[in-house]
Amino acid sequence: MPISRRDLLRLGGAGVAGATLAGCQTAPPGNPGGGLVDSSDPRIAQVETARARSGASVAASLRAAPTTVDLGGVLARTWAYDDQVPGPLLRAGAGDELAISLTNDLPDPTTIHWHGLRLRNDMDGVPEMTQDAIAPGTTFDYSFVAPDPGTYFYHSHVGLQLDKGLAGVLIVDDPDEPGDYDAEWVIVLDDWADGIDGATPESILQELQQSSGGMMGDGMEVTYPHYLVNGRLPADAETFSAEPGQRLRLRIINAAADTTFRCALSEHHLELTHKDGVPVRPVQADAVIVSMGERYDAVVTVGDGAFAFIAAPEDKAGLALAILRTSAQAQVPPATRDYPEMSGEVFFGSHLTGVDVPGYSVEDDPEVTIDLTLGVARGAYTWLINDVTFDQANPFIVEQGQTFRVRMRNATHALHPMHLHGHTVQLEEGRSWQDTILVPNMATVTAVAVADNPGKWAMHCHNAFHMEAGMMGTLGYQA
Ligand code: C2O
Ligand code: CU
Repeated sequence: MPISRRDLLRLGGAGVAGATLAGCQTAPPGNPGGGLVDSSDPRIAQVETARARSGASVAASLRAAPTTVDLGGVLARTWAYDDQVPGPLLRAGAGDELAISLTNDLPDPTTIHWHGLRLRNDMDGVPEMTQDAIAPGTTFDYSFVAPDPGTYFYHSHVGLQLDKGLAGVLIVDDPDEPGDYDAEWVIVLDDWADGIDGATPESILQELQQSSGGMMGDGMEVTYPHYLVNGRLPADAETFSAEPGQRLRLRIINAAADTTFRCALSEHHLELTHKDGVPVRPVQADAVIVSMGERYDAVVTVGDGAFAFIAAPEDKAGLALAILRTSAQAQVPPATRDYPEMSGEVFFGSHLTGVDVPGYSVEDDPEVTIDLTLGVARGAYTWLINDVTFDQANPFIVEQGQTFRVRMRNATHALHPMHLHGHTVQLEEGRSWQDTILVPNMATVTAVAVADNPGKWAMHCHNAFHMEAGMMGTLGYQA
């Protein structure tokens, strides 16, 4: 007996609420805001006032507007911050107050989300959850303390705007860091179709929705015409110059919408030092899997020559590339994914081991478990958490101060990098701290955290199409 999508959603939703949310309350249906701390609650300002401050502040302004960008011989009509892809690099120190004004010169409303920051809820940039989207022709002032050092990024949180050029890097420096490196290379990975042959993120989603009728949308991925490092095609790859023997810190940020990358530097090991901005026990990797929204820092001791930084889309053809050069004479390394490092010791998030980091701790056993079953509808490009799409979902509720567990079970054959806003959680396996957690196909990953940042927080897959097609929820604090 065929079951319609509507039936599936309704049956699943009803069944799941009782079965897998044991120990976790949900808000009354039809009133998702009822009884929760919302973005105007005075508790948000209280928590902000209590944050450690450096006394310094960093001011910047960004302008989101339509523009044409040169990807290296290919022009793309798109939307970007300050006409650049990626957007301007923002940099502050831990504890600094950031004052960033965003002028919206787009034809549509927009916001900025400060991805990975444990910031005040009303500055988190999620439309209808933490603020009203910023209307065209107006300016909004973001102002918040950046509490923790690390590699972060910022991007629009409206619709599929992230899959245009609306993303950039935010680095928060640690005044106490030993700084055991000589140079720093910021590497932004992206998949690109916007403005190429008439494609837009919206047209891609439409195609996904149309072509999945009658079959499982499961595992369906977008084949992009281009993959970029720092906004550049392999044919016009960025060259980073360094001296042989230097210690080079890479900050790798995956700003793509639908592409997980396998990254390696030819003839080098990557010493992975940070995940999502937080230190981990350093480990030597040949390659690292970086999914959407994830950030890795790595240190390399650079050799003498010219080397390829390769970012190969996982399970897709194509390549993103940049060059590291320490010798003017050395030949340009070939643009291929066939480097031995790509199939050596390959790491992803669950493989990491945490270390003690000031400001991050979970003392108590979790009182609450939030179970997320990551699923897909039959015969539709519709992605589900606990059998429902975001518009049907009740918030998951915690109380301020509670320790909670999030258990993510991937019941699909796709990868889901799950991102929780406003919190950094500790994986039970390996104890590393992360805000964007790659949950491999059919796998379960469990993490714990303390509810210390009141507000309503988005919790979603960082595949932009999965999120737009339903795979999102809310973590709410009991008022
Ligand atoms: Cu970078 Cu809600 O995401
Ligand atoms: Cu997903």
